[in-house]
Amino acid sequence: MGRLQSGISRRGFLGGGVTAAIGGLAGGVFDARARAFGGQSPAPALALDALKPSGPLDEAYWWKVRSQFNIVDGLTFMNNGTLGPMPRVVFEANERYMREIMENPTDGGRAAEVDKVREKVAAFVGATADEIALTRSTTEGMNIFAHGFDWKAGDEVIYCTHEHGGGIGPYKNLEKRVGIKIVNVAIPAPPQSVDQIVGLYEKAITPRTKVIMVSHVTYVTGLVTPVKELTDLAHRRGLLISVDGAHPLGMMDLDLHALGVDHYAAAGQKWLMCGTGTGVCYVKRDVQDRIAELMGAPSTDPKRGARKYEEFGQRDVPDVLGMGAAVDLQMAVGKKNIEARDRALSTRLRAWLKNVPGVKTWTSEDPKLSTALTLFTVRDIPMDAVQKAIMKRDRIWIRTMGTGNLNGCRAATHLYNMPEDVDRLVDSVRWVSENASQVRSTAG
Ligand SMILES: Cc1ncc(COP(=O)(O)O)c(C=O)c1O
Repeated sequence: MGRLQSGISRRGFLGGGVTAAIGGLAGGVFDARARAFGGQSPAPALALDALKPSGPLDEAYWWKVRSQFNIVDGLTFMNNGTLGPMPRVVFEANERYMREIMENPTDGGRAAEVDKVREKVAAFVGATADEIALTRSTTEGMNIFAHGFDWKAGDEVIYCTHEHGGGIGPYKNLEKRVGIKIVNVAIPAPPQSVDQIVGLYEKAITPRTKVIMVSHVTYVTGLVTPVKELTDLAHRRGLLISVDGAHPLGMMDLDLHALGVDHYAAAGQKWLMCGTGTGVCYVKRDVQDRIAELMGAPSTDPKRGARKYEEFGQRDVPDVLGMGAAVDLQMAVGKKNIEARDRALSTRLRAWLKNVPGVKTWTSEDPKLSTALTLFTVRDIPMDAVQKAIMKRDRIWIRTMGTGNLNGCRAATHLYNMPEDVDRLVDSVRWVSENASQVRSTAG
């Protein structure tokens, strides 16, 4: 594959040849010149109707979607798994709400509009509004469930070796404070099958098990865990299932009622691409009386539903209302279309990486077990050196992944990425592999 010369130019696509001002972006990602877009103001967002597909989803359509992001020229961003870039329509909504509230704070809480967002989010994830708490992060949602459950010393929770600190943190706390027991399942990278994964969890169940906690998509290898099958297992054995859904919201076509889970916590700032400090916590209606409020006085009004988990004081209303715009954007493009696009780009990435000598991918090739995240290792080169070399040579931003001792780099593909981004990353990885000793020497 030949080396593709340039990144994707936001203004080049939109503004007809005003790309020259930034020139060679030799500095870091946060280079002030890059931030300033060469002095140009970003173009206004397209109306959402213009993003509704009117025909086959060809590359021209995805270029139109791509044009709705203000990612700096010359940067290929492939770490949506940490923080997504905010589409213009969401940014403009946040800005508008912020201005309105700052200029006239008489109704800074905008409770009725927050409830409209709750309804919109509920419909988007296949739940009812009274099952949705609008939180500040995935971590908060995971804490709501874990600390709301009535644990006794010796009770057990099962989770795997690739869980994120945000999801397992409360259980470590409960281990120390209450004396619960954490039972770890060693998850293979990649696993062979859904049955293998379900079997590992089933073997870990004892008479003291109360909860299975699992990431729907693990942040380490991007494994899609069989949540439906694990939910059936949990319920067959009288357990609750709590899901860390930091990644699927905005990446996958979610239907929480169809999955049947008891609890699901998600992030707004990742694949849904709304404000940092937004999150969604689903608690199934018929388990809400088993999950006490983490903060505030006990709720006396059953009609409050999952709103009882929102007693954290004043909130960032512009970002919460902006989440409504993020859902509207996803609905305009189509949840299924986004999932298919994210998957197609990552499938392309994994297919190419397989052909690069010295590269090992840890992410499953089975579409049931993978989606938009890919973890790979280049020879024995330390992950930081690989990440640095790719950024320095090609200005592609991916993240390193130390969890599980896989010495990997993780690349994410989302709706603003283009096949060219994937191909440039593969070209860059090939260069790293061919120049291993040079790259290794930069490790530090
Ligand atoms: C699987 C997983 N869980 C939880 C978190 C924490 O997310 P948040 O910052 O929304 O609390 C992350 C963040 O990367 C994650 O990947």
